[in-house]
Amino acid sequence: MNNDILTLINDVNPDVVRWRRHIHAHPDLSFHEKPTADYIADELSRMPGLEISRPMDNSVVAVLKGEYPGPIWALRADIDALPLQEESGEAFSSTKPNVMHACGHDAHAAMLMGAAAVLCQLRDRLRGSIKFIFQPAEEVPPGGARALVERGVVNDVEYIFGLHMAPNVPTGHIVMKEGIYVASSDNFDIAITGRGGHGSVPHLCIDPVVAGAEMVMALQNVVARNIDPLKAPVLTVATFQAGDSYNVIPNGARLAGTVRTHDAQIREQVKTLMARTVAGVAAAHGAQAEISWQEGYAVGVNHAATGTIAREAIERNFPAQTLILADAPLFGSEDFSSYQQKVPGSFLFIGCGNKEKGTEWGLHNPHFRIDEDALAVGVKTHVALASALLQGGA
Ligand code: NI
Repeated sequence: MNNDILTLINDVNPDVVRWRRHIHAHPDLSFHEKPTADYIADELSRMPGLEISRPMDNSVVAVLKGEYPGPIWALRADIDALPLQEESGEAFSSTKPNVMHACGHDAHAAMLMGAAAVLCQLRDRLRGSIKFIFQPAEEVPPGGARALVERGVVNDVEYIFGLHMAPNVPTGHIVMKEGIYVASSDNFDIAITGRGGHGSVPHLCIDPVVAGAEMVMALQNVVARNIDPLKAPVLTVATFQAGDSYNVIPNGARLAGTVRTHDAQIREQVKTLMARTVAGVAAAHGAQAEISWQEGYAVGVNHAATGTIAREAIERNFPAQTLILADAPLFGSEDFSSYQQKVPGSFLFIGCGNKEKGTEWGLHNPHFRIDEDALAVGVKTHVALASALLQGGA
């Protein structure tokens, strides 16, 4: 990367740290990010050449039209926080009880603002346009990405890129997984209806506890005995609620849990098999059971074309060994997949772990902190990704 651009990145870095700390101190829960979006829009309005719009009042989209014709590429950040009480000890900790940026979305927003500031200075070399998307509600399905896609925000976009903090990866490294990188994620509820009665006369009852226990075990066989082991999903029953007495067989029981897959067909197959299993086990007990689903995010798939662009951009602009190519997808999920169902895109992870600085707490942990040196890496990554549209490169 040439020195002019590196200087621009260095110059904006104090602002990026300031933006990140402001957003961190003033977190907003999913779907309630209007104050954060207002702050971002206000800061972006000071940058020359950006056309700013608000598809929803908790989102910001800014377009930088280049000097020369060309395609539109999008860079995306999510901006929502989590319902957690912060225990990080940072001086700029959340000012709101039980709301915390514990997934790094404060950093994602600030890094993208920094990239916008840098690229605005390079507008006279830009062939095409860069769309900066600040989206709400990544953490809670149906997610903010889907809402923006439905409003046509990526209809004119050729490629899209997104970044995420990775505290398990040392600062200075960037991780990319080609192809499938995150799982689909759906939650289920199973309501079992039996017939309650005295614990001493089980033969006069239909015991939903026994039916439920058998259901938990039978559901494990959906994965173990019905699905190609090379495509194995995760099926976790995380909740089993029934009864509250020593000698009363309850009327009903409730199971709930999550299913994660790396394959859209398996995602549907698991639902069909679970419905069959739940109905079959209930019938064997003379009980009734109903399963309902809260649909989460689709499988996340990084596109080959954008993967090549990202790999080349990082190899050209960062020291050797910066890029780590992951060999296995995560079982986490990410609503960036909503864009990728519409537009080729790649999602990359920016290392922000540093043992000496104590920034290795996991995502969604109340102690979560980031090594702020990673912010400059994120800004530079965004700029490097966009640099294929810069005349003369970066
Ligand atoms: Ni996140």
